[in-house]
Amino acid sequence: MSEGSALPVSRSSLESGSSGAIENARHLFEIPEDVVYLNCANMAPQLRSVTEAGIAAVRTKSSPWTLRAEDWCSGAEELRAVAAQLLGVETDGIALVPAVSYGIAVAAANLPVSAGQTIVVLDQEFPSNVYAWRVLARKSGAAVVTVRRSSGGWTEALEQSITARTAIVAAPQCHWTDGSRVDLERVAARARAVGAALVVDASQSLGACALNLARVQPDFLVAVGYKWLLGPYGLGYLYVAPKWRRTGMPLEQSWLTRSGSENFARLVDHTDEYRPGARRFDMGEFPQFVLVPIATATLRQLTSWGMENIQASRALLTERIAESAGIAGYDVLPVAQRCPHMIGLRSRKGIASTLADRLRASRIYVSVRGDSIRVAPHLYNSAHDIEKLFDVLRFENGA
Ligand SMILES: Cc1ncc(COP(=O)(O)O)c(C=O)c1O
Repeated sequence: MSEGSALPVSRSSLESGSSGAIENARHLFEIPEDVVYLNCANMAPQLRSVTEAGIAAVRTKSSPWTLRAEDWCSGAEELRAVAAQLLGVETDGIALVPAVSYGIAVAAANLPVSAGQTIVVLDQEFPSNVYAWRVLARKSGAAVVTVRRSSGGWTEALEQSITARTAIVAAPQCHWTDGSRVDLERVAARARAVGAALVVDASQSLGACALNLARVQPDFLVAVGYKWLLGPYGLGYLYVAPKWRRTGMPLEQSWLTRSGSENFARLVDHTDEYRPGARRFDMGEFPQFVLVPIATATLRQLTSWGMENIQASRALLTERIAESAGIAGYDVLPVAQRCPHMIGLRSRKGIASTLADRLRASRIYVSVRGDSIRVAPHLYNSAHDIEKLFDVLRFENGA
């Protein structure tokens, strides 16, 4: 399935509070009845089952004598495999990283760029996908080109900004401020045509929006785990293309990323060989005995729901939000220019700086990013939540 397409789901299931292809999953989360949480793009709430997995994981440290040498990496390897399955790539292609800034720094440390070339980024991009490029441009004599969205959307604007001088294109699949969409397959094709590398920050889409990595073929793709992947803060995923796995230079030289490190008795025999695949880019202390079991439990749940089913049910809800927005006097982007899982609302009268606080007083949680009210629902949200949101927004806009 290519990005942006959606499974057919019935509107009647939305009316009844279920989420189309997937039943409404609110009961699986600890969300109080009066809370309308529409802010997954900021931080996902935790599944009840995952909280249990986390408590069990914290307990294991009480008895370190039960931890065998072979247990050190087995949890991380299981997580690597589940993450790879979710992304539709080989397990060898995944590294475990603490943050997007870390993954982007790995890309910036390895991709070649020289004076006079360009590094292309989006206007109002999340800072973790900007600052490393600015530093690299200063060091190399390259220029950062900031692309503004045109009336045709991000994809068209990006395609026009990628030229024979472009060394690196750094783009998301979904703009973090308003859910606007980048067609990564088209952008990747344009980057490949001029010999530029592609680096993707998929933090605002991975888990809720289909992505065909076999077609996009990014050089590096990174995503946080704590938003649409419903996982813990501090553990994310870096996909590394095959060509960087054998020769790429990691940011750190952890003993755990070296070959043979599972044999603790022989760690005194130092080696210059790394563990295979993208494992050389794993962060120091990647076994993360508490975070890894939590992340594995969430990714297993996402895999069993299926990313395409999640996308399909979110698309129905964001369509409902778009319809209500029009009636309440808010603008949204045309459907072809936005992702199916989250949506930005722009008021024709401007957004009062106090709006998010006023919504919070009604226990309704969204974010204001730039000039957009960002509404980011997940499987715990229903049409009823959207009605409650627009009760406030209509009043706010005098509609
Ligand atoms: C698009 C995007 N990328 C990355 C991040 C987080 O970056 P980091 O992991 O470097 O803190 C966020 C957080 O809101 C985000 O929206």
